Amino acid sequence: MEIFGVDIGGSGIKGAPVDLDRGDLAQERHKVLTPHPATPDRVADCVAEVVAHFDWQGPIGITFPGVVTDGVTRTAANVDKGWIDTDARALLGERVGQPVTILNDADAAGVAEMTFGAGRGRKGTVIMLTLGTGIGSALFVDGRLVPNTELGHLELHGHDAEKRASTKAKEDEDLSWQHWAHRVQKYLLHVEMLFSPELFIIGGGVSRKADKFLPLIEKVRAEMVPAELQNNAGIVGAAMAAAGR
Ligand code: BGC
Repeated sequence: MEIFGVDIGGSGIKGAPVDLDRGDLAQERHKVLTPHPATPDRVADCVAEVVAHFDWQGPIGITFPGVVTDGVTRTAANVDKGWIDTDARALLGERVGQPVTILNDADAAGVAEMTFGAGRGRKGTVIMLTLGTGIGSALFVDGRLVPNTELGHLELHGHDAEKRASTKAKEDEDLSWQHWAHRVQKYLLHVEMLFSPELFIIGGGVSRKADKFLPLIEKVRAEMVPAELQNNAGIVGAAMAAAGR
């Protein structure tokens, strides 16, 4: 079975039909650049463009980089504030002319990893963290998602954690791997103190370079593994959500 997945990110809006049996893209994905400012209206046009590229008819799953409850986007840490309390399901559904399901980006990536990637078959408490422009989180207990955890906004030494330990912070402050890994370790220790997970799955683009920083993180007790689906986890998870999986 194929369902369409779209991932709304800070730099690109990407989508493709997803083969839900394999947990992989059924066709090469299409990407358009995220407009700035990323207002609901402009992003909706981009989503419609991505969907039109495939002439897709049928249900669509869409990720959003903020809290989403019942199709309404509630926060907008790294996108235009116009998203706060927007009925995204109505807006995007009307623009693409198809039924849409919207969920948080890290939740989508986590769902995909738990079924097809690094979290396959893992019981107990598992936390997926996506390190990117912000820090996203997805919390699982025996494979079941607790949606909309916002662990990237925990306070760490008086700062919003994602402002210190995201990959954006590494780039903006030109931190060495060593320095940044130290901050990520502090962050993981804080999350571990609160939730005692068995497993951390580290996602986001930087998971491709996991060998550069995961070995530098020594004090965390939980097992730490890089995400396996990497760039496509959001698209796959969005399609899974639209299929009710
Ligand atoms: C948002 C989260 C999102 C994460 C990654 C954070 O700033 O609050 O909802 O999952 O960024 O995009």
